[in-house]
Amino acid sequence: MAAVALEAFTTPAQAAAAAADIIQSALGAAVAERGRASFAGSGGSTPGPVYDRLSTADLPWNQIDVTLTDERWVDAQSPESNERLLRERLLAGPASGASFTPLKGEGASKRTAAAEAGARIAAITPFDVVLLGMGEDGHIASLFPGNPALEAEGLAAWALTGDLAPSGPRLTLTFAALTSARMTVLLITGPAKRSVLDRGGDLPVHRYLCRATGPVRVLWAP
Ligand code: 6PG
Repeated sequence: MAAVALEAFTTPAQAAAAAADIIQSALGAAVAERGRASFAGSGGSTPGPVYDRLSTADLPWNQIDVTLTDERWVDAQSPESNERLLRERLLAGPASGASFTPLKGEGASKRTAAAEAGARIAAITPFDVVLLGMGEDGHIASLFPGNPALEAEGLAAWALTGDLAPSGPRLTLTFAALTSARMTVLLITGPAKRSVLDRGGDLPVHRYLCRATGPVRVLWAP
C-alpha cells in the first residue's frame, strides 16, 4: 500500500494552492533529474484553482508532457470536456508551452479510441505526477464502483454507461496507468468525501490506494 498521508487545510483554496505547489516541485525535480516530466490531471470542479496557480509556475514547460486522467466522449469544445478544462485553466500563459496529449484524439472512433489513447500515453508513463479528484461514490478518474473499467488491462479503457457509470461514456486511465505514477496528489473537499476515505472499504479509491506504488498525498479541506 502506498504511503498515504492526509493533510487537512482550512479552506479549499489553501488545499488547492498546496496541491499546485507540490505538483510544481515534483515536476521541476523530475525535469532536473531526467530532462522531462509528465503530468496527468483530473477533470471535475475541484482541480480548476490548482490549474490556475500551476499555469503560472516557473517551470521548463517545454520539457513537460501533460495529459488527462479521463475524458468524456464529447467534443473538445464542449463545456463537459476535460481537455477544454485543461486548455483553459492550465495550458495558458507559461504552461501553454507544455506538450498536451489528449485522451480523445481528433476524429477518434469509439471502436479504437481506448487502444489509441493507451498507445499515445505509453510514451509518457510512468507519470511523474498525477492529480486525482474523487467522487462521493469513491470513484477516481472514471473508474466507477462496479464498472468493468476497473478490471481493464492496458493504460486506457472505456468507462461505459450504465448504472455503475456516468451519464455518458468516458475514456479513463486504468489502475495500471495511475498506480505506477511516481507520486500522486489526491485533492478532495467536504465532509462526505473525507468520510468515504476514512471509513475504508473496497471502492475504487481504496483499491487505488492499496495498489499505488508511489507516495500519495491526500489533501483535504472542509
Ligand atoms: C471527471 C474527473 C472525476 C472527478 C471526480 C470529482 O472527469 O469528472 O476526472 O474523476 O475527479 O468526479 O469531481 P469534483 O472535483 O467535481 O468533485
